[in-house]
Amino acid sequence: MKMRFSLAFILILLLLAAACSGYSDFEMLLKLKTSMLGPYGHGLEDWMLSPSSSAHCSFSGVTCNEDSRVVSLNLSSHCLLSGFIPPEIGLLNKLVNLTLSSHNLSGRLPLEMAELTSLRIFNISNNVFVGDFPGEITLGMTQLEILDIYNNNFSGPLPLDLVHLKNLKHLHLGGNYFSGSIPESYSQIQSLEYLGLNGNELSGKVPSSLAKLKNLRNLYVGYYSTYEGGIPQDFGSLSSLEVLDMASCNLTGEIPPSLGKLKRLHSLFLQMKSLGFYPS
Ligand SMILES: *[C@@H]1O[C@H](CO)[C@@H](O)[C@H](O)[C@H]1NC(C)=O
Ligand SMILES: *[C@@H]1O[C@H](CO)[C@@H](O)[C@H](O)[C@H]1NC(C)=O
Ligand SMILES: *[C@@H]1O[C@H](CO)[C@@H](O)[C@H](O)[C@H]1NC(C)=O
Ligand SMILES: *[C@@H]1O[C@H](CO)[C@@H](O)[C@H](O)[C@H]1NC(C)=O
Ligand SMILES: *[C@@H]1O[C@H](CO)[C@@H](O)[C@H](O)[C@H]1NC(C)=O
Ligand SMILES: *[C@@H]1O[C@H](CO)[C@@H](O)[C@H](O)[C@H]1NC(C)=O
Repeated sequence: MKMRFSLAFILILLLLAAACSGYSDFEMLLKLKTSMLGPYGHGLEDWMLSPSSSAHCSFSGVTCNEDSRVVSLNLSSHCLLSGFIPPEIGLLNKLVNLTLSSHNLSGRLPLEMAELTSLRIFNISNNVFVGDFPGEITLGMTQLEILDIYNNNFSGPLPLDLVHLKNLKHLHLGGNYFSGSIPESYSQIQSLEYLGLNGNELSGKVPSSLAKLKNLRNLYVGYYSTYEGGIPQDFGSLSSLEVLDMASCNLTGEIPPSLGKLKRLHSLFLQMKSLGFYPS
């Protein structure tokens, strides 16, 4: 009796070990394959069941660490995949790089993505994901450097939770249907070098607080959005700024002379109703 008990115990331990190692990543990738299909149901053909527990590490687009856990998933050069991201993606919790850009993926982002707390690169640009962007999934992603969701069908307010990301350098939320105003609190993302909010349905004033983003080199807010008022005077203190695009978004008034202080600026796109430019 005792013997049988310990045998069962060892078996359970073994199963647990298997579940904690690459085995579950293997299963997860096969699950992903059934959720993302190429033309005529093809796509990810080389992702196949195998007796080897680390075979998934040689799947196209997959990179593993020494424990056969998936650290990078990059499907950007695969044939066009349609479908959705399944909730089980949360099990790939060693992922550092996730690039699923330029496909035809839709649906909402699963909240289980909150488990991906090692992510540095999160790139789902050029798809058709819908609904709110669930900012809360990023709360544990303390290493995140790149968040690129450009050109999807996200709507609702711009996510506020992003202000907790202390390592975020590149934030592209452009080309969606986000509405409401630009959060003043985005000025707290001090690490930002690139902020893309262009091509949305935003309104209200462009917050002058953004002038606190001292590392910002590229700022895109133009097109389709209809703001009130003009270019904040304070933008003259964005000392790292190289590109400023505020074109075609109902900005009015004069171009603040303070922009003349932007010594690194090489591209300025403004198209305004009544304008005068008096660089100081
Ligand atoms: C993630 O991608 C970056 C940029 O391509 C690369 O330098 C880094 O080594 C990648 N990390 C992993 C774990 O694959
Ligand atoms: C993803 O793969 C593409 C094409 O192979 C490559 O250009 C890109 O640098 C990769 N991205 C990352 C983050 O490694
Ligand atoms: C894109 O996905 C939708 C379903 O979400 C499908 O109806 C459509 O045919 C797909 N388009 C292409 C070009 O595969
Ligand atoms: C996201 O992926 C697309 C396609 O691979 C690439 O063009 C784009 O530069 C990537 N975004 C970032 C911020 O690296
Ligand atoms: C995304 O938005 C475009 C343009 O409005 C629309 O034609 C398309 O049906 C939308 N796709 C999804 C999946 O919502
Ligand atoms: C465009 O700007 C003007 C002047 O600031 C403002 O009165 C108007 O409401 C704005 N239009 C829209 C559609 O927001």
